[in-house]
Amino acid sequence: MNASPPTIIAIDGPAASGKGTLARRLAEYYGFAHLDTGGLYRAVGLAVLRQGGDPADSAQAIKVAQALDAAQLAGLMADPALRSEPASDAASKVAAVPAVRQALYDFQRRFAAAPPNGAPGAVLDGRDIGTVICPEAPAKLFITASAEVRATRRVQELQSRGITAIYAAVLEDMKSRDARDSQREVAPLKPADDAFLLDTSLLNADQAFEKAVSFISTKVSALAENG
Ligand code: DC
Repeated sequence: MNASPPTIIAIDGPAASGKGTLARRLAEYYGFAHLDTGGLYRAVGLAVLRQGGDPADSAQAIKVAQALDAAQLAGLMADPALRSEPASDAASKVAAVPAVRQALYDFQRRFAAAPPNGAPGAVLDGRDIGTVICPEAPAKLFITASAEVRATRRVQELQSRGITAIYAAVLEDMKSRDARDSQREVAPLKPADDAFLLDTSLLNADQAFEKAVSFISTKVSALAENG
């Protein structure tokens, strides 16, 4: 068969910027597979916690990341505890360890090169998709929003799941995770040179989606007409 290589859409940005919602929606619209790469780091963080380990201990994080097989990964990715604050915090710690990132690199590259179920393309969202994992992606988007807007969204999301959250604490936590993600030495959070910067502070999900689709149509001619 002479199929063309999958079309990759790379989406990066900080926590609660709206990138996950956007990525899922774009994948559905184009009939592409979607990979939430933050879930991979969360899975490693959660696995360390479940073993009674310390996510800040790099040696433990590396051991767990290297031992995870695809089935365990799938199980952890579907676990509701993946979205908990302890898992978020653990994820951001293990994600700063180069050997943990290396252990997850192949999984992400394979997903992009051969999206599941024969999908003609893939949308990957994370922090380093456009810069490290898929620098060849024709369409790269960097989604931002102010820390205050993102903290408000996170509080609402937690409340919708029945979890009471204090805005000031969530904002503080958001800022420290931002700092950790952007200042780490390996694969820090930053836009690729050719990424489309989309600030969603004043946009709702529909408006962000429309802007993203219109940018993608300028980059991938096959997606220009009907998606
Ligand atoms: O997007 P998220 O909140 O689920 O990500 C969880 C953590 O994983 C976050 O602190 C940053 C890290 N991460 C990363 O370093 N690289 C990625 N490609 C995705 C997430």
